[in-house]
Amino acid sequence: MCGIIGILGGEAAAPRLVDALKRLEYRGYDSAGIATLEAGGMARRRAAGKIRNLEAELNGNPLAGVSGIGHTRWATHGAPTENNAHPHATDKVAIVHNGIIENFRALRDELMKAGRKFESETDSEVIAHLISAGLDAGLNPEQATITAVRRLEGAFAIACLFAGHEDTLIGARKGSPLVVGLGDNETFLGSDAIAVSPFTTRVIYLEEGDTAILSRTKTKIIDAKDQVVERPVTVFSGGAAAVEKGNHRHFMQKEIYEQPETTGRTIARYVNAFDEKVEMPDLDGVDLAADSAILIGCGTAHYAGRVAEYWLEQIAGITVETDIASEFRYRKPAFGKKAFSVFVSQSGETADTLAALRYCKEQGLKTLAVVNVPESTIWRESDARLPTLAGPEIGVASTKAFTAQLSALAALTIAVGRAKGTLSSQEEGQLVRALMETPRLIADALAAEPEIEKIALELSHARDVLYLGRGVHYPVALEGALKLKEISYIHAEGYAAGELKHGPIALIDEETPVVVVAPHDALFEKTLSNMQEVAARGGKIVLITDEAGAATSGGIAKHIILAPACDSFVAPLVYSVPIQLLAYFTAVHKGTDVDQPRNLAKSVTVE
Ligand code: F6R
Repeated sequence: MCGIIGILGGEAAAPRLVDALKRLEYRGYDSAGIATLEAGGMARRRAAGKIRNLEAELNGNPLAGVSGIGHTRWATHGAPTENNAHPHATDKVAIVHNGIIENFRALRDELMKAGRKFESETDSEVIAHLISAGLDAGLNPEQATITAVRRLEGAFAIACLFAGHEDTLIGARKGSPLVVGLGDNETFLGSDAIAVSPFTTRVIYLEEGDTAILSRTKTKIIDAKDQVVERPVTVFSGGAAAVEKGNHRHFMQKEIYEQPETTGRTIARYVNAFDEKVEMPDLDGVDLAADSAILIGCGTAHYAGRVAEYWLEQIAGITVETDIASEFRYRKPAFGKKAFSVFVSQSGETADTLAALRYCKEQGLKTLAVVNVPESTIWRESDARLPTLAGPEIGVASTKAFTAQLSALAALTIAVGRAKGTLSSQEEGQLVRALMETPRLIADALAAEPEIEKIALELSHARDVLYLGRGVHYPVALEGALKLKEISYIHAEGYAAGELKHGPIALIDEETPVVVVAPHDALFEKTLSNMQEVAARGGKIVLITDEAGAATSGGIAKHIILAPACDSFVAPLVYSVPIQLLAYFTAVHKGTDVDQPRNLAKSVTVE
């Protein structure tokens, strides 16, 4: 999980950069580096492994200067070597980057054809060369950065330092967070408030598409529409920044907004973007070419498993059984010998999931944990693990952990498909490309917030709400209903859209909103028929769909929430965002305790 720091300061930068990087260690990383502006030009030091290796390098080979940028890197594109560590630099600019640049191959080819030489295997290096190309063409640092940023596809946060520009530091964000820190005659950039906390408590949280051009005394922010804008200054209590809400009202909202970054990080952990392949770490004897898989979890984690059930069956062609842990462990399930088992858990401590894991081990099955908390019990007791890199989730209602679970399970599906021989390398490449686009699509889906907030006001007056979905969106509907009931206390149920007429349709009346999760995919027409059944009985439909779905739905929905068009493989990740926001704002309108809803605990360690 990468971290960024940038300093335009008044005292030696290198020790301060290292101090800030140490505060970012909690995010996890496997190499680190800094660059400073020295009298003779720009210089950098980088090291694989821990920050102490970077410190050792700096002790032998110090860096002067009062301005600089630093980075902790969690390897994504390219191994965790010194050469791939950030900052990446040309003779004119040094950059550090968090996130994924989706179109880096095309940009790299273009820049290489123009004679630029690349040193690393990272996607990030294209940013340094793109900005350099602009500078070479006569643009100033601000123009060169904005021109480059407009060409980047994906989700990212960057900080840039320019040779010969002692009083300039530029940052830009899209998808990944970035904050500006304001000191006395000093300014800072950080991937979160913790990074800048040793230097200041006054921060500006940049918004989507913002570019910040900093001097020591001035902060100019240009938004995605090229307008100069003002952003509020927030004062935070430095030490507690890890658990601060930033400029969000609740942790849940903050965590929903973190998803471009958290899914990006999790996807990048398993994807080799150069070869467009999934790479799974050593799975310690878990045979992905098995005939069947068992996926176990509770609540939201179970629904992530239900999504993966569709993926694994359709893409890898294996038999899948999913169950909630509390049932699975007592029903003495039988399974074939050639199966592996997967345990999905944010906390890694859920008592029922742990008991199910132990049961499977007793039966001689290999166990694989999809877990967010490292070193938790489920993590430790499993044969192998696929970490989700969502970071600490504070809101009791799970959001970013869910999409991180889906990210890891999507990668697992591709790996199983390859092991089973159901995926050609071309098909694998297509699925990997779709995965890499997901953080950006999630950022796009967040843009529907104002519309969702309005619709949520209406929902907040409902007594019951139904959620419908088909295929892989059926578990997304189940998750939507769970989110709504746990934080707004409104009764909600998720149903398979085709099941409606077998009973639940009796619940439809003018007072019961029906939320339908239906991208314009192969099943859309079928779901449309179900919507007609609802509309014919006076039901008020809130349709979550894309442009094509909206155009085809013929005015049947009272409200439409638009989601970006996307590959159907990753649609469950993208459509999770509107259902989370809908539940969140409904609860906010109702005035419930969003982050700590009544009767619920974050880690359920009892049966
Ligand atoms: C719902 C929610 C719960 C958890 C469930 C499992 O928002 O958070 O349903 O998903 O209690 O918890 P973990 O994932 O920690 O095993």
